[in-house]
Amino acid sequence: MRLILAFALALFASVAQSADRARDEHSAAEPTVVRISAMALDLRVDFAQRTLAGDVTHTLAWADATTTGPAKLVLDTRDLAIERVQARKGDGRWQRVEFSLAERDAIFGSTLTIALPSRMDAVRIRYRTSPEASGLQWMTPAMTAGGKQPLLFSQSQAIHARSWVPLQDTPGVRFTYTARIRTAPGLMALMSADNDPAARADGDYRFTMAQPIPSYLLAIAVGDFRFKAISERAGVWAEAPVLERAAAEFSDTEKMIAATETLYGPYRWERYDLLILPASFPFGGMENPRLSFITPTVITGDKSLVSLIAHELAHSWSGNLVTNASWKDMWLNEGFTSYVENRIVEAVYGREQADMEDVVSQTGLRAELASLPPAQQVLALPPSPGRDPDEALTDVAYIKGQWFLSFLEQRFGREAFDPFLRTWFDEHAFKSVTTDDFLAFLRRELIAKNPGKLTEAELAAWIAGPGLPETAVAATSPRLAAVDVARDDWLKRRVAVAELDTSKWITQEWVHFLEGLPEDIAAERLLELDGAFRFTGTTNGEIAQRWYPITVRAGYFEARPALAQFLRKVGRRKLIMPSYVALAETPDGLAFASQVLQQASAGYHPITRGAVQAVLDAAAK
Ligand code: BES
Ligand code: ZN
Repeated sequence: MRLILAFALALFASVAQSADRARDEHSAAEPTVVRISAMALDLRVDFAQRTLAGDVTHTLAWADATTTGPAKLVLDTRDLAIERVQARKGDGRWQRVEFSLAERDAIFGSTLTIALPSRMDAVRIRYRTSPEASGLQWMTPAMTAGGKQPLLFSQSQAIHARSWVPLQDTPGVRFTYTARIRTAPGLMALMSADNDPAARADGDYRFTMAQPIPSYLLAIAVGDFRFKAISERAGVWAEAPVLERAAAEFSDTEKMIAATETLYGPYRWERYDLLILPASFPFGGMENPRLSFITPTVITGDKSLVSLIAHELAHSWSGNLVTNASWKDMWLNEGFTSYVENRIVEAVYGREQADMEDVVSQTGLRAELASLPPAQQVLALPPSPGRDPDEALTDVAYIKGQWFLSFLEQRFGREAFDPFLRTWFDEHAFKSVTTDDFLAFLRRELIAKNPGKLTEAELAAWIAGPGLPETAVAATSPRLAAVDVARDDWLKRRVAVAELDTSKWITQEWVHFLEGLPEDIAAERLLELDGAFRFTGTTNGEIAQRWYPITVRAGYFEARPALAQFLRKVGRRKLIMPSYVALAETPDGLAFASQVLQQASAGYHPITRGAVQAVLDAAAK
């Protein structure tokens, strides 16, 4: 124990000192020299070619504007065809300038270096995207809910914005933007900007995002989207067949906004709308400012999974307002957001629901920690220049981060902790921050003002130590404890499956039930459960995520057709990866998985396709 603590303290000291932690190793841009301060997009959406094509104009802010002589601007790109680059000073004439595109790196793409005669005020780049752009998913009408119109959506986080706009693709740089987007009439274009609920689908749209945002929050979607209001400032965009169900499921959105404002200050982004995408959306949700992108797999009819909305909404404070300066400090976005999410759930749905969700996520974190190398178990991650940030996505940033803030809340009490967090958001609004910034703020605003409550060693164990610190207090839930009893009774054959009183169970109880089943459970026992509860074929993504891997490992082959259907329909990585991992464990499963992937691949987002392929490739070796 001593050793681990000494290790954490040493690491902790290096968090504070390391100069590399200040820069973003996933971008070639040089923000200490020049920053994009505003961006104007003018793009045409071409579904036949699967391209976005047009111009982007960047307004530049140079750190040192007085130096004369040639200068260069370095931007991130991936798979973009750059047609020409122009630059100008003030309102002067646009002049063509030279540029070069470096060799493509599999993770970072191709650095674009623009040679400027002097420190110009703006550059304009004419370009087109590749049909394989990693940040765009192009869908045929058959892949949508409506079935008549094609659909496009972007996913820029972490480093995919560069595949559809040449820019400084780092969360350390913020810019405002305007956009003109042209597409076929009848299709609605939406962005992470000032969408108009009353817009006519005439094919020509203009957007403004007046608050400065980082590149990963740049977003676009085009499709046959309709709007339904939830409140004055909140609403849902979705394809017609999903619109009513989505609006009903997410009808508490306004209550969530109000609850968060009470805790952490005003919502600063004007409207808050949801865009419901097809099930192939690779994430649960994405906090694109003013317009969160949402998977339809959480629409269960009983609101049991609406914490996803609380999560994406919470990012309007933690992430979109106060942003991690690089992906090493992702816990500042996701850990804070998971904490705020749970506070919103508690405020709107009560403590019982919030506690159940806490127990479920802590169970998930413990399981994940068991298989992660110690270096990846820390909140403040070391620089990892060669690593794709999409692959570094673990529960550590989310749940250990959340747990740390809950720990601080318990230590200092809500009377002190709630205002502390609110001030953190206020003082760092529209800024990018590092773990060091948070530690300095914490020491100044909470520890120094409440002496004797928290030691540096305890803090170090949370920030720089692996695993769970000794000071971590586990969440408890009486309802989930009752599930443990029920499961145990059934496993020991004290009660028959029909005698279990599950009539009032919601998603979290089912998930908890499944997660506690022994790894070597026999196929006949699964048959028993399935007969009573019909897990196979469930439309609830969270249940499917847990059920299917169990069936695979138990050799319960009856579930295979429904599993294949689930994997073909859903593209949300978190939901489907566990099944692919389980399948890849045996040669027969691997063959089945490869076959399913072949059929599913066209409907998957590039991010999902890449992740699944990696698992199957590793198993085939
Ligand atoms: N910002 C994330 C999604 C993300 C993370 C995209 C990293 C790309 C890289 C979003 O807010 C999120 O955390 N989504 C979760 C929701 C869940 C934790 C409620 C998801 O998609 O599963
Ligand atoms: Zn998040």
